[in-house]
Amino acid sequence: MKILVVGKGGREHALVRALAESPGQPELFCFPGSDAIRELAKPVPVNGLTSLIAWMKANAIDLCVAGEESYLVTGEGLANLCEREGIPCWGPPKQSAQLEASKEFAKEFLLRHHIPTAKASASGTLKEARSAIGGVYPTVLKFDGLAAGKGVAVCPDAESAERFLHEIFVEQRFGEGRLLVEECLVGPEVSIFAAIVDDRYQIFTPARDYKRARDGDEGPNTGGMGAVASRKLIDEKLLARIEQEIVQPTVAGLRADGLPYRGFLYFGLMLTPDGPKVIEYNCRFGDPECQAVMPLVKGDLAGFCLAGAKGDLQESLIRFDEGWSVCVTLASAGYPETSRSGDVIKGLNDLHDARVYHAGTKHGPDGLWVTNGGRVLSIVSTGGTREMAVTRAHQAAGQVQFAGVQRRHDIGILNF
Ligand code: AMP
Ligand code: GLY
Repeated sequence: MKILVVGKGGREHALVRALAESPGQPELFCFPGSDAIRELAKPVPVNGLTSLIAWMKANAIDLCVAGEESYLVTGEGLANLCEREGIPCWGPPKQSAQLEASKEFAKEFLLRHHIPTAKASASGTLKEARSAIGGVYPTVLKFDGLAAGKGVAVCPDAESAERFLHEIFVEQRFGEGRLLVEECLVGPEVSIFAAIVDDRYQIFTPARDYKRARDGDEGPNTGGMGAVASRKLIDEKLLARIEQEIVQPTVAGLRADGLPYRGFLYFGLMLTPDGPKVIEYNCRFGDPECQAVMPLVKGDLAGFCLAGAKGDLQESLIRFDEGWSVCVTLASAGYPETSRSGDVIKGLNDLHDARVYHAGTKHGPDGLWVTNGGRVLSIVSTGGTREMAVTRAHQAAGQVQFAGVQRRHDIGILNF
């Protein structure tokens, strides 16, 4: 079996590793990949989506796995192009990926299908946005488009709201677009992932990510400083409620709206005093949640994704370890405001009880790895108990060194 994975980050490294460990030992390819991913998957010598599709066709690729969201909505859309060429794709077509790409589309979908979510209204101008806020703080402002995780501001007061409104409407930091003004919800957050195949689904191990840069959940938002995953993260009753009130109506809503879906769907939820509510959908696995979840997935992920992409949800091909998994991100100096590249990474070869997924590294001189981006590595350990996974992951993370390394020390420990 020949599988091509699209993307280049820590999430894709984890996916490629899980696919490589599948019993069929598939032949793996990547686009664009990274130096670390290329150790497991051959790079494809193309420079865009159109040539990628032609290459897949010419090389009889059996399955395309969409790791990163941007390709799903670029041009005609990765999955749409695959479908036209008869290449099974694990990842939804462009029209369905609007659930992630447009916050307004997602909000209308949620309301239409009576799925619990925060109240919101959409604004096209600064004036409309101010009037939608109506002087009520805290408020949540969301740019209506892909903004690499930077398009959301939780504003405690008028001053911070005005600053974000200026970025959106005056500086047009993310380009032209509308803004969603949303009710601020409170409660712990949880990430639920489902593999969706038409009208069927399978829920993966729940996870929680740590978005703030510093311990105690302080500091600026980042792309994710770590994650914890376990079936025991939330109790049976709550998971059943999430399935009934959120997952099932979402899958039914996709069908009712004629939105085809085969791939992972990520439900970003807030567990409010009024019950679980959706704060966002992402049409892919989470990063860094994927790095935490993948080591808990046993069985044949490659066969599962291939069958799913062809319309057959083969639940029995995979199962989930009952234990815990903790993923600690190592970030480079200056992150998240800036990042530093070229610092030599030491200690990777001496790790026990940990998996290492590369997010921002490249091959340096003498076969050493060097930093190449903000989030550099994900260090992941599993264990039968939360404590065991926490201890192993932090111990391993502490052994990896590079100049200016930053990490949180409370990943997996701090509860929200
Ligand atoms: P998003 O990009 O939609 O995931 O939003 C990023 C983060 O902003 C979320 O993980 C939450 O921490 C926060 N957030 C988003 N929407 C809300 C909301 N309605 N109320 C409170 N916090 C929110
Ligand atoms: N962990 C957040 C995300 O993948 O969007």
